[in-house]
Amino acid sequence: MPRFSFPTTLLALFACLAPAHASNVDGRTVYERGGAKPAATACATCHGPEALGMGAGGFPRLAGLPSPYVLGQLRAFRSGTRSSPVMQPIAAALSDAERQAVAAYVAKLPHPAARKVDRVDKAQGAGELLALRGAWDRNIPECVACHGPGGVGVGDHFPPLSGQPASYLSAQLDAWRTGTRKNDPDDLMGHIARSLTDAEVKAVAEYFEGLTRKEGEQ
Ligand code: HEC
Ligand code: HEC
Repeated sequence: MPRFSFPTTLLALFACLAPAHASNVDGRTVYERGGAKPAATACATCHGPEALGMGAGGFPRLAGLPSPYVLGQLRAFRSGTRSSPVMQPIAAALSDAERQAVAAYVAKLPHPAARKVDRVDKAQGAGELLALRGAWDRNIPECVACHGPGGVGVGDHFPPLSGQPASYLSAQLDAWRTGTRKNDPDDLMGHIARSLTDAEVKAVAEYFEGLTRKEGEQ
C-alpha cells in the first residue's frame, strides 16, 4: 500500500483552504486520492499503487507514459473519441490543473524495463513476426517502427506497448476495429488494427506483454 504524507483530516483541511490554482495541485495526491470532485476517483484504485496496471481488470500501466500522450488520452475520453464507460466520467471530473499534475506525475514513475530485442534476430511466431517485420503484403508496418525496439515507446506520442497487460492491448486493438477508439488523427492505428486477424491481435498482444523483463532476468 502507498504511504501518504498527510493525515486525511489535514489533507482535507488543506484542500478547503487552498484556492483552485494550478500550482497547488499535487499529481501524487490526485493519483492516490483522486481529484476535488468525487467522480474523479483515485487512479491508484484501478491502475495500481505504483501505476503498473492490473492485467486482470484490463487496467493499463500509466507509469512512464509520456505526459503529452496521457493528456491526449484524457482529452479523448472527455470528447468521446475514445469511449470507456469507466474512464470518461473520471476524465470529465478532473480539472485542467489536476489533469496536468497527474499526467506529469505518472510520466516520472519507474517501470520495469523491456527485454532487449534485436531487430535482426529471427522472428518466430505470429506475434513476433508482426512486431518485428509487419505484414507488408497487407500494408501493415512492423509495430516497432513506431513503438520502438522492444515496444518501449518513442517520444511524446508513440506509447510503449511492453509492460502493458495483453488483455489491455488486445482490447485497444479491438476498440480501433470496432470504432470505439478513434482518437488517432491520422488513423494510423485504425488502419493497422482493422488489417489484423483475431489470432494476430491475440498473438501480438501476448508478445508485447511478454517483453517486460521479469525480476532477475537480463
Ligand atoms: C475504476 C477504475 C479506474 C480508475 C479509478 C481510473 N482509471 Fe484510468 N483506465 C481504466 C480503464 C478500464 C482504462 C482502459 C480504458 C479503455 O478501455 O480504453 C483506463 C485507461 C486510462 C488511460 C489510457 C492509458 C493508455 O495507455 O492509453 C489513462 C491515461 C488513464 N486511464 C488515466 C487515469 C487517471 C489519471 C486516473 C485518476 C484520475 C484514472 N485513470 C483512474 C480504469 C480506471
Ligand atoms: C505508423 C506508426 C504506428 C505503427 C506502425 C504501429 N502503431 Fe500502434 N500506435 C501508434 C500511435 C500514434 C498510437 C497512439 C494513438 C493515440 O494517440 O491514441 C498507437 C497506439 C497503440 C496502442 C494503444 C496503446 C495504449 O497505451 O493505449 C496499441 C495497443 C498499439 N498501438 C498496437 C500496435 C501494434 C500491435 C502494432 C503492430 C501491428 C502497431 N501498434 C503499429 C502508431 C503506430
